[in-house]
Amino acid sequence: MPTPILEVRDAQAAYKVPGGAIRAVDGVSFDLAPGETLAVVGESGCGKTTLAKAILGLEPLTGGEILVQGKPVGGDLSGLAERVGIVWQDPYASLDPRWRVGRSIAEPLRLHRRGDSGDRVDEVMKAVGLEMELKGRFPHQLSGGQRQRVAVARALALNPPLLLCDEPTAALDLSIRAQILNLLKDLQDDLGCAYLYISHDLTTVRFIADRVAVMYLGRFVEIGGIEEVFTDPRHPYTRALLDSAPTLAKLGRLPDVLPGEIPDPLEVISGCRFRSRCPRGQERCDTVDPEATAENGRRFHCHFPVA
Ligand SMILES: Nc1ncnc2c1ncn2[C@@H]1O[C@H](COP(=O)(O)OP(=O)(O)OP(=O)(O)O)[C@@H](O)[C@H]1O
Ligand code: SF4
Ligand SMILES: [Mg+2]
Repeated sequence: MPTPILEVRDAQAAYKVPGGAIRAVDGVSFDLAPGETLAVVGESGCGKTTLAKAILGLEPLTGGEILVQGKPVGGDLSGLAERVGIVWQDPYASLDPRWRVGRSIAEPLRLHRRGDSGDRVDEVMKAVGLEMELKGRFPHQLSGGQRQRVAVARALALNPPLLLCDEPTAALDLSIRAQILNLLKDLQDDLGCAYLYISHDLTTVRFIADRVAVMYLGRFVEIGGIEEVFTDPRHPYTRALLDSAPTLAKLGRLPDVLPGEIPDPLEVISGCRFRSRCPRGQERCDTVDPEATAENGRRFHCHFPVA
């Protein structure tokens, strides 16, 4: 096994709010190998973006640790941008609206004193399929697809070995989604960087990912190879997500809420966190939080897994 690009060990991150703390990431563990793509799926509010922020050092951990190329994230963040890039759902979150395209892409190079950045800007623009003449445009003078390409170019300018993508196609028209997705796949073939790919869209995930993690209330309830998990889910929540596929086909994305109520994020849950919505739950689930079960390269947390 090569040394992982990313190691996440029992990571925890919480937000203090009136009335308590929201444990947005609540004991997440996984490794990501060089060049590998792990997708993270789960309903709105399950903690996907908070996990991405923790990996970027933007959200402090309240427990556990995260290592990028063997170095712990936290404290001094200088240099982390050379190892981790990020593409957000909204390109405006990555791009300064007052900067022209050329400057947006050159900025990380300037910050990290990569000498004459001109050649590199041209190189990444070409890699993401942007015409050179767009260099002088402002973000609002671009199409949504072009804007997201600029965001990808900026994220890749420093050639990081790890790219985080937080719903990178969710804000785009359906026809443009496929282009960006193909672009990300081609870039990975060329550059060999690893992806952590966050999405609601199971079809997309199946296209792009090697492995998938299913997140529920701050925890990966199941993680494994994409085909194994999608064709033979072991966790009842994974099963429920896949059963929502007809809705998925209709809406192009997961419904925001599956049947049953998501507990209040402030609630401290004893036993299994999926208990309030699980059709398979039994008495033991009310009191005992299921430990991880490892099975043929797969891991899940459930006392009574789907057969
Ligand atoms: N700045 C914040 N302050 C307080 N609570 C927050 C903050 N950011 C997120 N949360 C809460 O933390 C939990 C996880 O949020 P997060 O944004 O990580 O979810 P997500 O899985 O990315 O959701 P989505 O699919 O809607 O993007 C939610 O309950 C959310 O309301
Ligand atoms: S542990 Fe029990 S409640 Fe939790 S997912 Fe498994 S069967 Fe359902
Ligand atoms: Mg999010």
